[in-house]
Amino acid sequence: MSLFRTKNLDNMVAASRTPGGLKKVLGPTDLILMGIGAIVGTGIFVLTGTGALTAGPALTLSFIVAAIACGFAAMCYAEFASTVPIAGSIYTYSYVVLGELVAWMIGWDLLLEYGLATSAVAVGWSGYFQSLLSGFGITIPEALSAAPGALPNAHTVMNLPAACIMLVLTAMLSWGVRESARVNNVMVVIKMIVVLLFIGVGVKHVTPANWHPFAPFGASGVMSAAAVVFFAFIGFDAVTSAAEEVKRPERDLPIGIIGSLTICTILYVIVAAIMTGIVPFQMFKGIDHPVSLALQHAGENWFAGWVDLGAILGMTTVILVMAYGQTRIIYAMSRDGLLPAKLSTVHPKFGTPFFATWVVGLVFGFIAAFVPLNVLAELVNIGTLAAFCLVSVAVIVLRKKRPDLKRAFRCPGVPIVPGIAVVFCLALMSFLSAITWMAFVIWLVLGLIVYFGYARARSALNGVTQS
Ligand code: ALA
Repeated sequence: MSLFRTKNLDNMVAASRTPGGLKKVLGPTDLILMGIGAIVGTGIFVLTGTGALTAGPALTLSFIVAAIACGFAAMCYAEFASTVPIAGSIYTYSYVVLGELVAWMIGWDLLLEYGLATSAVAVGWSGYFQSLLSGFGITIPEALSAAPGALPNAHTVMNLPAACIMLVLTAMLSWGVRESARVNNVMVVIKMIVVLLFIGVGVKHVTPANWHPFAPFGASGVMSAAAVVFFAFIGFDAVTSAAEEVKRPERDLPIGIIGSLTICTILYVIVAAIMTGIVPFQMFKGIDHPVSLALQHAGENWFAGWVDLGAILGMTTVILVMAYGQTRIIYAMSRDGLLPAKLSTVHPKFGTPFFATWVVGLVFGFIAAFVPLNVLAELVNIGTLAAFCLVSVAVIVLRKKRPDLKRAFRCPGVPIVPGIAVVFCLALMSFLSAITWMAFVIWLVLGLIVYFGYARARSALNGVTQS
């Protein structure tokens, strides 16, 4: 049974509620801002172009489908987060609820999700950076502007700006320059201004004829695009990682998660409608800065420049949040004995997991340089959707196993709502490409091999008596 050995839930819940430890300073508004800070990025600024090519103007529906899947999963996340308010995201939650093997597989899955998400957002960053530079008449040599095969009819070798931003941010993170709540709030305001500016300026240039036909590729186009733009919602789960620093986690975490998700959904649907209203959707082919392209097309070059700048700043914070989340999960897994101890060593001077941060930065910087955005986004999505399925199942399991636990936020309609979350997530997963599925299965099999060949024998739970 040691595969299903768990950490002691009551001890962990008690520890998280005793005074001391991290300062409890965050309220619901901070959490909503934190959520928006982690959510708004490459998904809306870049993948809307890809999504529009797949769904046509019905991209608005794709955003709604993806949001519903996230919404149901968010309810489950919120119940978990308010019951087990411990830092470390669902890796930690599943360790106490579902046992070591499932926790390991989720942690392994999250390594893929967070890691590749940093690479994907770095690639999105690069598109806007190059658009901004071109406004000043500077162009990067074509060969260095994108990953091989990323642009149709172009001979590209590597995405140099994406690799560079990853290295710069890795250096900052390893020195301990962590995005502070205040910087995050400023960035969120900038991102909101950019999005609202686009809406305010763009709406005047909408030609309703561009919305016809509305769904040229039918329901399957809408679903395929939903499976890709799902990426735009990833990040609301980052709110849960702040659980130990929240004043009233039982009440505020669900507000933070559901609030940020709702605001982003509304904005995304409006942006998608305006973008596909300004330009015929076919024009987004091979474009890596579709939001500012729409404004350029409308002759609003000055505003387009500001959108480029805001998008660059906004995406920088998403990379920081994701890379930070990644090192935290690696740190937690290493502390639990499941990954090499060196990955949880803290730098004596900087007080950061220096080694883990550089391993992450170099590996995913390399990937950002050589893998196209769509491939990365699909891989991130499949990993995240799988994690959402597991969280939803875990809520049902925990209700059965521990009905006595205090749950400040209860997911409504258990087991129906978690069930719907699983169905939606599986449906979206089924629209991802075969190659994405293959890569995902290979990653999971690799995870099992590492668990049985390395992690299991070294787990910190060895020798701990199970109650
Ligand atoms: N949701 C985040 C983004 O779109 C990951 O960049």
